[in-house]
Amino acid sequence: MKAAVLEKLHTPLSIQDRHDLNAPPGHVVIQLKTAALNRRDYWITQGLYPKIKLPVVLGSDGAGVVLETGDGVDASWKGKEVILQSGINWGDQEEAQAPEFEVLGMPRDGTFATHILVPQETLHEKPDFLSWEEAAALPLAGLTAWRSLFTQGGLKTGQTVLITGVGGGVALAALQFAVAAGAKAWVTSSNDNKIKQAIQMGARGGFLYKDDGWETSMAKEAGAPDLIIDSAGGKTYNGLIDLVKPGGCIVNYGSTLGNPQQINMFKLFWKQIRLQGSSLGSPADFRNMMSFIQEHQVKTIVDAVYPLEEVNTALERMKHSEQFGKIVLTCAS
Ligand SMILES: NC(=O)c1ccc[n+]([C@@H]2O[C@H](COP(=O)([O-])OP(=O)(O)OC[C@H]3O[C@@H](n4cnc5c(N)ncnc54)[C@H](OP(=O)(O)O)[C@@H]3O)[C@@H](O)[C@H]2O)c1
Repeated sequence: MKAAVLEKLHTPLSIQDRHDLNAPPGHVVIQLKTAALNRRDYWITQGLYPKIKLPVVLGSDGAGVVLETGDGVDASWKGKEVILQSGINWGDQEEAQAPEFEVLGMPRDGTFATHILVPQETLHEKPDFLSWEEAAALPLAGLTAWRSLFTQGGLKTGQTVLITGVGGGVALAALQFAVAAGAKAWVTSSNDNKIKQAIQMGARGGFLYKDDGWETSMAKEAGAPDLIIDSAGGKTYNGLIDLVKPGGCIVNYGSTLGNPQQINMFKLFWKQIRLQGSSLGSPADFRNMMSFIQEHQVKTIVDAVYPLEEVNTALERMKHSEQFGKIVLTCAS
């Protein structure tokens, strides 16, 4: 098998030949067809992620065919086309993951490879209406968007939701799910073209987050949103607290811009708003998301596809946030 290995921080991944994998009890070997990038992969290469262990095969998203099943795994999985759930060991509380929870692709070897070893719990049948590229693009971003919008954000049909940074993989999935659920979705971006593309996908409109006072424009044009889905945080976060409707909710699944310098506590309690964190999702969230995309035939948006050997070019594209949708690798040897 081949794998793209991160040996040292701040260095390119190297494509290496490795021994074939065998499935221990409870595990399966997957022949990967496709994998997808997440910002997490880039953060790890830069040392900007907790508890980094090297060397490692990065990649949290993948789709492929079950090649070998270990003892205790239902043998009917063999030969099936599957999508891998990115989270392992969520635990039995829906509210939050257990301390044992981990994400594929560090510390455990991930999907930037021709083959991967995963526990049976990660397996989900690939829906026929998704291509291999669309299938790999779904799990981590889709699940994070799903939990942020519905499980944590409680989004309902007819409500107004603002999704910031729509060029991001999670944000774009959130836009697709919100539109499919009949919400009025608005977006922000650094890029006019991305806003235009979002409008073509059903967004009501959008604003450039680098423009001073875009929050006031949004309030005038769209009214205050019931829900804001954000992964930027940083010094602009208080603008979101100003913007959200009294009694509304801001869900954060990331903090790309770091911490806000201060939170306006008066507005927090006087507006009776909820600041809610969200990370990936539980197995139940994943099953609900899979049913939802089947029902609404939601296809993940793929920005670009590279062969596994060009993984470093793919990471470079992510570094510059050039993408609209997911960056995918083809893994088949
Ligand atoms: N907690 C979790 O489980 C979880 C899961 C997935 C991701 N995350 C985190 O969420 C963040 C996004 O991840 P991703 O994989 O979706 O990344 P991504 O696909 O690389 O997207 C990043 C996007 O962030 C947007 N952005 C940058 N600066 C912004 C700002 N000032 N205001 C609003 N948006 C801004 C940009 O949108 P435009 O291109 O439109 O300008 C960019 O495309 C990262 O911090 C990641 O670590 C967390």
